[in-house]
Amino acid sequence: MHQDIERVLFSEDAIRARTRALGEAIAKAHPEGDLVLVALLKGSVLFYADLIRAIDRQIGVEFAWASSYGDGTSSSGTVELKVFPDEDLRGKTVVVVDDILDTGRTLASVKARLLAEHPDAEVRTCVLLDKRARRAVELDADYVGFEVEDVFVVGYGLDFAGRYRNLPYIGVLKPHCYEGGEEGD
Ligand code: XMP
Repeated sequence: MHQDIERVLFSEDAIRARTRALGEAIAKAHPEGDLVLVALLKGSVLFYADLIRAIDRQIGVEFAWASSYGDGTSSSGTVELKVFPDEDLRGKTVVVVDDILDTGRTLASVKARLLAEHPDAEVRTCVLLDKRARRAVELDADYVGFEVEDVFVVGYGLDFAGRYRNLPYIGVLKPHCYEGGEEGD
């Protein structure tokens, strides 16, 4: 285990099994029609890569970049959308994939923008982690990997100050590591 990690919350094996189940559930729920999976950069990249391999049907791959955190470990409250799919998503089922649903502002903004630009799209959401305790807007994801307690987690795509994204598991960061950094998106 990395020296900055206090404890592992979700092991590689647990993540693999749950991600596979989520992929199968998405394929089963959307057996027909155009299905597009939109990865929210950067945090969802590891989850996304594993999730789409567990979806046994034709899909479209798109990316969006929404940055919601100004500094530290709490949300700035504003969501900046830097990259957005320019594909025509009309009439398609779109599943927005993120690493963690926290206050809900990021997914809510992305969902609203997708629906505004592609009114005919059916927009669904899929997150690996759901931190319900911190929800600030009314939003539930359609597909959830794990519920997570109100602790700052890193690994498997999740970072603090750009670090720890490549840990293969998800763990709780030791509190002394919070000081003087900025986490990403
Ligand atoms: P909101 O609050 O908009 O936030 O739902 C979603 C984004 O916030 C980041 N986030 C975290 N990143 N550990 C992290 O490394 C956490 O515990 C955490 N909580 C929220 C994340 O980028 C997510 O996309």
